[in-house]
Amino acid sequence: MRIAHISDIHANYGSDFNNSTFEKAVKLLNGFEADLIFISGDLTTDGLLREYEFASERLSMIKGKKAIVPGNHDEKNLGYKLFPEFFGNTDFIRYDGNLTVIGLATSEPDKADGRLGRNRHRLIKRGIGKKKDLTIIGFHHHLVPIPNSGREHNIIEDAGETLDIILRNNVPLVLMGHRHVHYAVKIHNTLLVNAGTFSCNRTRAHFGNTFNIIDFKNNTIIVTVIDIEKGKQEKMVKYNPRDGYYINRYYDEKKRID
Ligand SMILES: [Fe+2]
Ligand SMILES: [Fe+2]
Repeated sequence: MRIAHISDIHANYGSDFNNSTFEKAVKLLNGFEADLIFISGDLTTDGLLREYEFASERLSMIKGKKAIVPGNHDEKNLGYKLFPEFFGNTDFIRYDGNLTVIGLATSEPDKADGRLGRNRHRLIKRGIGKKKDLTIIGFHHHLVPIPNSGREHNIIEDAGETLDIILRNNVPLVLMGHRHVHYAVKIHNTLLVNAGTFSCNRTRAHFGNTFNIIDFKNNTIIVTVIDIEKGKQEKMVKYNPRDGYYINRYYDEKKRID
C-alpha cells in the first residue's frame, strides 16, 4: 500500500500560490499512483470562497482517493463554514480494508495555534479501538517541535495529552503539516511525519517544495521525500513497527535505505 502525504497547498490569487510548481507536483504525484492521498491542511491562504473554489478546482487534477483535514489558514474569514462544503467533514474516521485513517481539525477560527480537545481525543480512541492492522492519524499542526522551521510556536496546545494517547496505543504513524518543511522522527513506537509545502512560495532556505510518499511493505514503513523542482526522490525513514527496525536519515545521513 502507498500513501501520498501532501500539505500546505495555499491556493490563492496573491503571492502565496505557485501554479507552475503545483502542476509539476501533480504530475509527479499522479505518477506514484498512491492508494490514498492524505492532505494535511492549508489548502487556501485566507479561507475565502474564491480560494476554496480555486483549491477545489486545482485538487481535482490529483487522481485517487483523498482524505483532507483543514489547516489554520482554511479557518480564516469564516472559512471553517466552507471547508465541509468543498472537502467533507473536518474530523473523521475512515475504514478502508485493514486500514483506519483518523483525520482531525487542529485549527480554530482566526487562530494560528492548534488544539485537539477532549472530544477529538475521544475520536482518536474510538478509531484506535477498531483494531485494524494499521491506524494512521493525520492533522495540520505538529505534535513536537519541527527543526528548520524558525521560532517554534503553534505546537498543538494539548500536545502532551494527545501524544500520550498515541504513544500508549502504539499508533505507528502520524501525519502533520503546517511548518512548510519535511521531517520525521520516531518517539516510542510512533513515527511522526511532517510534510513540507506542496505549492506555496513561502518555502524555507533550501527546503523547496516537497511531498512525501509513504510505502507499507512487509510490515515496514518507508518515507520518501520528493523534491518537486528537482524531481529528486530521497528515502528518509525506514521503520518496522513490529520488530523496531529503524533508520532515520535526518540523523543518520550516511545510512542507506534500500
Ligand atoms: Fe501553511
Ligand atoms: Fe498552517
